[in-house]
Amino acid sequence: MSSTFFIPPVNIMGIDCLDEAMAAIAGYGLRKALIVTDQGLAKAGVAARIGRMLALRDIDSVVFDGAKPNPSIANVEAGLAVLQRERCDCVVSLGGGSPHDCAKGIALCATNGGHISDYEGVDRSRKPQLPLIAINTTAGTASEMTRFCIITDEARHVKMAIVDRNVTPILSVNDPSLMVAMPKGLTAATGMDALTHAIEAYVSTAATPITDACALKAISLISENLRQAVNDGNDLQARENMAYAQFLAGMAFNNASLGYVHAMAHQLGGYYDLPHGVCNAVLLPHVQRFNAKVSAARLRDVAKAMGIKVCGLDAEQGAGAAISAIEHLAAAVGIPAGLAELGAKLEDIGILAQNALKDACGLTNPRSASQDEIEGIFRAAF
Ligand SMILES: [Fe+2]
Repeated sequence: MSSTFFIPPVNIMGIDCLDEAMAAIAGYGLRKALIVTDQGLAKAGVAARIGRMLALRDIDSVVFDGAKPNPSIANVEAGLAVLQRERCDCVVSLGGGSPHDCAKGIALCATNGGHISDYEGVDRSRKPQLPLIAINTTAGTASEMTRFCIITDEARHVKMAIVDRNVTPILSVNDPSLMVAMPKGLTAATGMDALTHAIEAYVSTAATPITDACALKAISLISENLRQAVNDGNDLQARENMAYAQFLAGMAFNNASLGYVHAMAHQLGGYYDLPHGVCNAVLLPHVQRFNAKVSAARLRDVAKAMGIKVCGLDAEQGAGAAISAIEHLAAAVGIPAGLAELGAKLEDIGILAQNALKDACGLTNPRSASQDEIEGIFRAAF
């Protein structure tokens, strides 16, 4: 069976790499950038700083700070209107997954026309998007380097998964010095999102030796560094290791795809507007308990990558060890114990499960589930 490996053509990372990134951006011959960000980064002056750095390279810019958490169709449309009015020829996204995803939606519609919902599914666009440079400020979603774009359809209360090679940025930038300002809760949630990417990619039906290598290294780095990144946000070494870890997890899932954790978490996010990483973290052990029936040997590898001594454990015991290691890490970084704490309601499980089964991320889950089984996993996670 053949496989294709997607990754941005250029990826710049490491402490204080922003200057080097600006030199690379100058080489693309761009004229005016739409900087897509959120209100927090705009208010903190980070977007203005990026604008000044671009100006030094003779690139004009205008800031659109309307990417909210779980970016919506309306956010994409508002940003696209600014881009067209200001005649921008490129997009620079600044932030975590939400600004990157919003920017992808804007850049894709800018060249392909139509409505962002036209591109829900896999490779539905015909043309490359406007050049997108993604400057990352969190360590989790890896949206700065993936072909995944998740946009909330507020009318349907669902997150649309747009999986399209054309939304891949041309340049990703991961400077850990931009990540030290992340609060503890966001550090924990985004870090657990990255762990979920790595584990779902590792047990995916589309895993390859390349994605396996990326996933296992990501799992080790997250196990070794996430607690410290949460405890001391100014620890640049822990931040840098988490930046590499989330990038490696991105390399894994961008190519091996994901599974039911994401398919189900997208519904919780779309229905209740909950943080993506927290939903994943709560669901991850429950979905892997379901997967263990067919993926026990792989989950034993996960346990080993998390630093558990698996010598003498059979596959089933190893899978159990992986699931408890995930639960311990989640608890240590302050993730809530269940969905009830997040405000989810048992009576919504039927519709959530129905929509989860339609989400493209579930297609590569190693064990396929019925509606009743997905409902059972949701119930166990309450
Ligand atoms: Fe994710």
